[in-house]
Amino acid sequence: MSIKLAVLVSGRGSNLEAILEAIDSGHLRASVEIVISNKSGVGALAIAKRHGVRSSVIESAPVKRVEHERLVVAELAKNDIDYVVLAGYMRVLSPEFLSHFKDAAGFYKIINIHPSMLPAFPGKDAYGDAFAAGVSTSGITVHLVDEHVDHGPILAQREFPRHPQDTLDTFKQRGLAVEHDLFPAVLEEIATRSLASLVKEQVRK
Ligand code: GRF
Repeated sequence: MSIKLAVLVSGRGSNLEAILEAIDSGHLRASVEIVISNKSGVGALAIAKRHGVRSSVIESAPVKRVEHERLVVAELAKNDIDYVVLAGYMRVLSPEFLSHFKDAAGFYKIINIHPSMLPAFPGKDAYGDAFAAGVSTSGITVHLVDEHVDHGPILAQREFPRHPQDTLDTFKQRGLAVEHDLFPAVLEEIATRSLASLVKEQVRK
């Protein structure tokens, strides 16, 4: 089955690009119906345009969170979508927002990628925090979103090493390459199986 995605972004868009490239190359049976950014002029919007994907900017500043979320939910409702994908979306979603995307098993159909082995290093600067902590191994987590930040049922995790000569930049580059491989692979699993079965087993990648 092919799945219909909405991708929420705030910045560079390299994960969006990886998803779109996986779709184009036939590795991911999905379509991106809409990209929604809470900031104008970001790289992700240019990537959507290049791939002929519709996008919408719904500025999060200076409106109140509840109003911003209402607008995003309304935009999503105009589209026929199966899952909401957070690809560098730097906003915390309220329980009210989540309630619009609950599946029959009680999971929210919202998927996030986070650049650490959760529950280690939640938060905005996971690469920086893991690097500063001197880890010898870090990783990437793809998970379903719940009411807490960088928390929720884990779908897949993949480790990557920190090398002794790494700078924060080379460490991030190694992690990003893992993100770009893992995120489309997990979405492809979602196209073939229920969220409940994936949560139970996690994707073995
Ligand atoms: C990625 O590191 C992702 O894991 C995190 O935010 C970053 C977004 O990067 N949630 P990009 O916009 O996909 O390039």
